[in-house]
Amino acid sequence: MQILKTEINSNIILLLHLEIFIMSIHKENKDVKKVTTHQLQVMKERGEKISMLTAYDFTMAGILDAAGIDILLVGDSASNVMAGHETTLPITLDQMIYHAGSVVRAIDRCLVVVDLPFGSYQGNSLEALNSAIRIMKESGGHSIKLEGGAEVIESVKRIVGAGVPVMGHLGLTPQSIYQFGTYTVRAKEEVEAEILVQNAHLLQEAGCFAIVLEKIPATLAKRVAEELKIPIIGIGAGMHVDGQVLVMHDMLGITKDFSPRFLRRYANLYDNILEATQNYIADVKSKSFPNENEQY
Ligand code: KIV
Repeated sequence: MQILKTEINSNIILLLHLEIFIMSIHKENKDVKKVTTHQLQVMKERGEKISMLTAYDFTMAGILDAAGIDILLVGDSASNVMAGHETTLPITLDQMIYHAGSVVRAIDRCLVVVDLPFGSYQGNSLEALNSAIRIMKESGGHSIKLEGGAEVIESVKRIVGAGVPVMGHLGLTPQSIYQFGTYTVRAKEEVEAEILVQNAHLLQEAGCFAIVLEKIPATLAKRVAEELKIPIIGIGAGMHVDGQVLVMHDMLGITKDFSPRFLRRYANLYDNILEATQNYIADVKSKSFPNENEQY
């Protein structure tokens, strides 16, 4: 009887410890200082660089957030790296919402920006607003990004007016690839550079909280970052902007054949995954997996 009592008591103590541990995890998560658009503005003013990567799924987003990334972009590059399309054009609003919801469920700290996909906002500003609202309501994302300058200003104003933070995107805007014809550096000529600067000012005046500049000369990006008050995030736009963004698959070396000059790879996961898979196949074929300890 005494033995039974002691066992019950120690089980209760164990349960209490477990509960305190779980509560401390929740408390920790609640205490995490979340990245806000306001905080990004303060970072620019302080000269502290902003880190941003793309993410499309729950597992990877959780790792990137745990590493301390400031912004996760649920990019329409999901069309390329997740779905295997040649361009970003085919991805739909429903698919973007699916990816964004998976990312949002994984994160504790970073700001989540979700791309408005091609065809979901170019029609008119009401269409743009409705698409932005669907993303915010159905995925739980914190803000949206759209491509373009003067032609999307009415949409930016309308979305910002509804309380949704908007990030702009100028320079090489992949949704216009069939108009550009190539993925080479944009705004090298003075006329295009001046239009880009004007568009950046228009986006700021319309209420954008930040702008991505993709694949433009570093000197031009520097000028935009200096002239504008809001953070400028570069991808292939040099070192003088307020932050950097890369596609996660490129940064981790999961993609193999994409090697633009601006890309720095921080891992070589393509080779790691290939080797691990080859080892697994060899173990299955040779009957060395599973062994006695790996079965019931
Ligand atoms: O969709 C995307 O990945 C992007 C980045 C290249 C900025 O828009």
